[in-house]
Amino acid sequence: MTEKRDFLTIWDLTKDEIEGLLKRAIELKSGADKNKCPLIGKSIGLFFEKPSTRTRVSFEVGIYQLGGQSIYLNPKEIQLGRGESISDTARVLSRYLNGIILRTYSHSSVEEFASHATVPVINGLSDLHHPCQALADLMTIMEKKGRLKGIRLAYIGDGNNVANSLIEAAAKTGIDLTIACPEGYEPDSDALDRSRTFAKGSAGAGDIIILRNPKEAAGRADVIYTDVWVSMGQEAEAEKKKSKFKNYQINSQLLQCAKKDVIVLHCLPAHRGEEITDEVMDGPNSAVFDQAENRLHTEKALLEFLIR
Ligand code: CP
Ligand code: NVA
Repeated sequence: MTEKRDFLTIWDLTKDEIEGLLKRAIELKSGADKNKCPLIGKSIGLFFEKPSTRTRVSFEVGIYQLGGQSIYLNPKEIQLGRGESISDTARVLSRYLNGIILRTYSHSSVEEFASHATVPVINGLSDLHHPCQALADLMTIMEKKGRLKGIRLAYIGDGNNVANSLIEAAAKTGIDLTIACPEGYEPDSDALDRSRTFAKGSAGAGDIIILRNPKEAAGRADVIYTDVWVSMGQEAEAEKKKSKFKNYQINSQLLQCAKKDVIVLHCLPAHRGEEITDEVMDGPNSAVFDQAENRLHTEKALLEFLIR
């Protein structure tokens, strides 16, 4: 029996595997293998501690399209919510399910769950990482720009879960990444160190630069990316963060600094009028709805790859 594979962070896939998944996602999007059902007879659980629109629906639809069954597990409705341990839950669910997608607060909960589960575990967002989002981000850049290596990507905003996975995905694929964030809101230092080490060790891999000035980061960018200033679970710090980030908005003026054909990405949900204006979200450079659609295609490619 082959050992199960998890997808907790971008590091769980090799560069070649990422490239293979992107290629497969593009094929699936074009309608290839519509009648192929690799998940027939298989059940996948979705255990979500936080709300979700895209991740939940794209995975549930993707599982259905691949012939499988999805089972949504609300923590309040299973015994875990009454104190059953993560390890016992993971061991029991592994006896029924062929894979589990988790959305948690603490990243260590995903790690603990995966270490006790005997079926593949997919991280559908934790406080620290959002690797499924990064796959859809890469696919969207590939679709719109025709390549990843050497692309100039500017991430403007909070050094959060989305940023951490984006940094790792950029390092793996040779994207040049510049991050503009206020002091104290840098991405996770482990994600940064590991990505820089990887980039240094692989020929042609991109730079990862952190600076303070959004205009400088956006300079000659091919892609500008942002995310909310206040992530799920950070509601108590909302006012403080909004004031720290007020100069980090993606608006028409900022777009002027980038290349003319720059695309704008946002993992969504957006707080229009905060990190991004309506004008940009709904404007000609925005690729945010294609990016959201690509969650479905990349997740189907991921499920085909992981679930045996
Ligand atoms: N981008 C993303 O993960 O969206 P949801 O929170 O709606 O799943
Ligand atoms: N950084 C955001 C992403 C939502 C998809 C959050 O964690 O709330």
